Amino acid sequence: MKLISGNSNAPLSQAISSYLDIPLTQCNIKRFSDMEIFVEVLDNVRGADAFFIQSTSYPANDHLMELLIAIDALKRGSARRITAVIPYFGYARQDRKTGGRTPISAKLVADIITAAGADRVLTLELHAGQIQGFFNIPVDNLIVAPVFVPHIQDKFNGERLCIVSPDVGGVVRARALAKRLNNADLAIIDKRREKAGVSEVMNVIGDVNGKVCLLVDDIVDSGGTLCNAAAALIEKGAKEVHAYVVHGVLSGAAIEKVQNSPLKKLVITDSIVATPEVAACPDIEQLSIAGLMGEAVRRTSEERSISELFK
Ligand code: R5P
Repeated sequence: MKLISGNSNAPLSQAISSYLDIPLTQCNIKRFSDMEIFVEVLDNVRGADAFFIQSTSYPANDHLMELLIAIDALKRGSARRITAVIPYFGYARQDRKTGGRTPISAKLVADIITAAGADRVLTLELHAGQIQGFFNIPVDNLIVAPVFVPHIQDKFNGERLCIVSPDVGGVVRARALAKRLNNADLAIIDKRREKAGVSEVMNVIGDVNGKVCLLVDDIVDSGGTLCNAAAALIEKGAKEVHAYVVHGVLSGAAIEKVQNSPLKKLVITDSIVATPEVAACPDIEQLSIAGLMGEAVRRTSEERSISELFK
């Protein structure tokens, strides 16, 4: 087995390597003066089961291109099998046409990863499970529960919990987490714009009064969805609101927004490397997915079940 890391999330790659006790295969990724990317794998990969670790996070296009070129380098270096390990799969939100003459970029990205030569994809909490079907190669879409559930159990032992999806699209994820937490209560936020030009109304479906609410989502980007949801829950009588979000994109003024919101804490994973601002923010906690991803890498290599990880 060969583990190779792209530039998007070196600390996570290093943590996966430590978990597996397999050193990272050295790789030279450099730029030409016009910013073209060049990749050279510095060790023999002929016949290897190669895992290239790269989140397609900010800057998304550079990291995606790096992933594609590295896959090509591995293919031309005669790796036996290439798994694209993509802890955060950018472009996933563009999974359907949102209007006339708009793209389905998640499908396009799936096609180019496959065309580059990936044999498999290993990822975490895709925006929508159906994106697996955009690939014509096997996709293992890990769920975050083994990372979030012990943290929640430890932190909220004995509390009456209500798991909340901040939008209708996230209900499956929230329900699955609630089930693993002794069938905790479930609530959903339904955002509606009654008329064009009038601001959205947040309807809370479910009883949150007096409960500790845990908002669960796949992505926090601008922070708008979470912070508005937290305010709506407090207005409906929630005792306190925390958030568990898999991928901390946290762009623009997101950190400030989180700090000024009623959210007590935002828990994210290290699928995207933390900026110094994220790392320094006392309201944000990062949990590592290295063990989960590492175990899935090991099982892929040993041809063992991955779904057993979630029983
Ligand atoms: C949307 O469907 C996603 O699940 C997230 O809720 C969304 O991407 C969060 O974006 P933002 O933080 O910008 O509101």
